[in-house]
Formats: sequence, C-alpha cells, structure tokens
Amino acid sequence: MSAHYQPSSGQNVDNSQHGDAATSYGRHKTAGVDTVHGAILYLEEITVSFDGFKALNALTLDISVGELRCIIGPNGAGKTTMMDVITGKTRPSAGTAFFGQTIDLTRMTEYDIAHAGIGRKFQRPTVFEQHSVFENLELAMKMNKRVRQTLFFRLSSEQKDKIDEVLRLIRLNGSETRLAGLLSHGQKQWLEIGMLLMQEPQLLLLDEPVAGMSDAETARTAELLNELRGKHSIVVVEHDMAFVTEIAQLGKVTVLHEGSVLAQGTMAQVQMDERVIDVYLGR
Ligand SMILES: Nc1ncnc2c1ncn2[C@@H]1O[C@H](COP(=O)(O)OP(=O)(O)O)[C@@H](O)[C@H]1O
Ligand SMILES: [Mg+2]
Repeated sequence: MSAHYQPSSGQNVDNSQHGDAATSYGRHKTAGVDTVHGAILYLEEITVSFDGFKALNALTLDISVGELRCIIGPNGAGKTTMMDVITGKTRPSAGTAFFGQTIDLTRMTEYDIAHAGIGRKFQRPTVFEQHSVFENLELAMKMNKRVRQTLFFRLSSEQKDKIDEVLRLIRLNGSETRLAGLLSHGQKQWLEIGMLLMQEPQLLLLDEPVAGMSDAETARTAELLNELRGKHSIVVVEHDMAFVTEIAQLGKVTVLHEGSVLAQGTMAQVQMDERVIDVYLGR
C-alpha cells in the first residue's frame, strides 16, 4: 500500500482548488482536507457488527471545523468503536465516513488516515519512556510528514518555538529534560497530547483522556482543552461529568447509546433529557 494518500480517489471530486485551505480558514489547519461546507467529519448511517451484535447501529454524526465535541454514554455504547471506524482500525459493515467533503475514511489504511491528519490518543499513554520530554516532542515533530525532510538537520528556531509553545500548553515547560518514564500518569497523558499536537492534526480524537488522573490533573487537562478550543477540531470521549461540564461549556454534547445518537445538545440540555437520565446519568 502506498504511503502517500491520493485525495479523492474514486470520488470524482477535484480537491486541488482547496490545497491552500490552511490559509483560507483563519487559524484552522485544514490543508488538504476540503472543509468548504464547514464540517471536518461526517459519519453517516455507520453500522459495525460483531457476530451479529451491532456495536454501532446506523450512527450519524457531524463534527464542525474548530469544534470541541464531547461524546458521553454508558459503557458499551460504541464510543471507542466509533473512534476505531474513524481511524480505520475497524471497517463498518454499512455507512460512510468522510474526512472533509472528499476523503473516504472507509477506503484508507490506519497509516494513511493518520497521515491525512487524524490524530488519536488511546486511553493508555504511549510515550517513549527512555527519552526526555523534549525528545519525545522532537520525535513526534519528525514523524510529521510536513517537516520530515528536515529529519537529519538541526531544529530550526521556528521548530524550537513550536516545541516551547507545546511544552507550555501541556504544562511541562521546565521539565523538558526529564525522562518521560519518570513523569506522573497525568503528565504522560499531557505529553502524548503534546506529541499529537506536534503532528498538527486537523482532527484530534481523545478517548477518556482523564481516566486515572488526580482531580488536580483533571482540572488542568480541562484548562488545556479549553486553550485548544477553536484552534483544532477535537472529539473527546469521557465519563467524568465534572470534566465534560468544564470543557463542553456552550458547545454540543452527544450522548451515544446502543450504537446510535440518543441525544445531542448543550450539556444543560442533555442533562435534563429524560432518556439520557434513564440510560446514563441516573436519577
Ligand atoms: N472486537 C470486538 N469484538 C466483539 N465485540 C466488540 C468488539 N469491540 C467492541 N465490542 C463490543 O461492542 C460494544 C461497544 O464497545 P465500545 O465501543 O468499546 O463501547 P464504549 O467505548 O462506549 O464503552 C460493546 O458491547 C463491546 O463489548
Ligand atoms: Mg471505550
């Protein structure tokens, strides 16, 4: 399989006029992804069956450019399976998944999807424990296709600035020489988010980012995500309702149940929804 994804193959859509989208959409980085209609992700009628059991059942969901979307729902609702479909880990048995207008995710490998600009953070942190915080960010930058040609050269001052900016954002400035293996669980999670940011993803997927964090770490993670708001398109799956309330603000929250959308609205709206209270929030 070629390492270079060809946009819109088989879709008969010419994506070339949107090649400079990074400059046409303000601060949102959407280069190579056609977001002319304002959405970065479209899932339509996605079904995933495991031996007849529908983990996703005609799931339809859109994410807008620059949106921070929270996805909640009981265990087994299909939240992780949804991320597996978006990242090409699981193929749906029916339905379509598009990244922007033209990129058909259901035809791509996990590798090509990652390189097209979808970054995913799994529940458990996966940092390079034997390397320093700085080196982890540097390595992540080198995995970014757009800077790969500089692999054997010294970091430019612009690249150093980028690392500094991310270090501050993930609250690890001052710890750049520490071995990643010596960080706390929460700090490793932040470092991994930082590594994803170094790759300049156009869509960032975070699966239960605060699981196992202390209350203080959870609060700082909420601050971090609030700082990213509007600069990146982000989907966050989380169980911690205090955390979700903190980052959802007036944005949309989607409640998944049995593989489809049960309710969608502001946090205040879904919290008052009788069906959501019945299946998830409890009385
Ligand atoms: N590879 C698999 N094989 C069989 N069943 C699976 C597989 N992956 C997930 N499931 C089932 O699909 C349902 C949805 O799982 P998941 O997406 O992990 O839910 P959530 O992340 O919302 O807790 C669960 O009932 C789970 O047991
Ligand atoms: Mg899950």
